[in-house]
Amino acid sequence: SGSLPVYVLICYIQIFFVLHKSSLNSNQLSPKEAAVVQENTSSRNASSPNTIVLVWPWPFGYSFDSESCGPTYGITGCHLTDDRSVYGRAHVVMFHHRDISGLVMCQRWVWMNMESPDFSASVPSMDNLFNLTASFRRDSDIWVPYGQLVGISEEDEPFRIPTKDKLVCWIVSHWKSEFKRVQYFEELRQHMEVNAYGHSFGKHMSDQDFQAVIPSCKFYLSFENSVYKDYITEKLFNPMIMGSVPVVLGPSRENYEEFIPADSFIHVDDFKTPKELAEHLKLLDQNQEMYEQYFAWRKHFVARRSDFGLEHACRICDHIKRNKGYRVFKNLNKWYWG
Ligand SMILES: *[C@@H]1O[C@H](CO)[C@@H](O)[C@H](O)[C@H]1NC(C)=O
Repeated sequence: SGSLPVYVLICYIQIFFVLHKSSLNSNQLSPKEAAVVQENTSSRNASSPNTIVLVWPWPFGYSFDSESCGPTYGITGCHLTDDRSVYGRAHVVMFHHRDISGLVMCQRWVWMNMESPDFSASVPSMDNLFNLTASFRRDSDIWVPYGQLVGISEEDEPFRIPTKDKLVCWIVSHWKSEFKRVQYFEELRQHMEVNAYGHSFGKHMSDQDFQAVIPSCKFYLSFENSVYKDYITEKLFNPMIMGSVPVVLGPSRENYEEFIPADSFIHVDDFKTPKELAEHLKLLDQNQEMYEQYFAWRKHFVARRSDFGLEHACRICDHIKRNKGYRVFKNLNKWYWG
């Protein structure tokens, strides 16, 4: 792509949302190099009557009627579109050289992901494709944590610990017996009552239930679905926002302490066994003064969740305004999936 003439001097950013492994998995695209990229459509053709052709953009700006293949060429079952929101469903993407070549030199592609490596599939063809990374990992070019503590301001209402009628709660949707969190929970509940909600317990939680339950629990199990450095999600920030004390299972205590104060949470690793954790929680239940210590951080900070996607886009914008240099990310797969 190095010898392409520059037709257009304006650069824009292309943000890649790698949200669901399945949607990108089957797209082994290398769109920067190819004018027309064909993918294996066998599995999709069966379910969709139309083959979707995403035209990116209309060559020279002239659009076609979306159903014109039939009447014009007798080729049926084709749907032409320039609607980029169908990208994840399109069978093929047609890039018009002249309309994209000016960008190739200076446009940046940012790989964005919020899922842990266990819940997003490695895609070898993504090596050498992106320029920058945006994720929860602190060593991303653009770091976007799931949430953070920010300095308190005058608009923030003074904090009061919500009324409690439960000791420990857990809301969980994704349940697999091999998850570390599930094994820990199974053992913990042999030593104390855990109010468990969500799919696996036949207790569906609406948004409202969610907002009501968490504050009513003294402790909330902020158990991550997989254990990776910096993978500290809304499971931690929700109870911190809502006035419950998080009991965390995830990366090391040291890693958590890079995000939140040491005395604002309980780590399962602080105890040799789930039984010892249960004993500590029961002790705190009897000692209000000790319990309230976990809210000391509230004097100085409030917890916030990040806006999924929007915060990424804005931080990416900020980053590229300040960093205009050339950059290629060669080893995405090795970096992320190891
Ligand atoms: C972005 O990366 C691609 C390789 O994937 C490279 O061709 C392109 O020049 C890079 N752009 C910038 C501005 O670094």
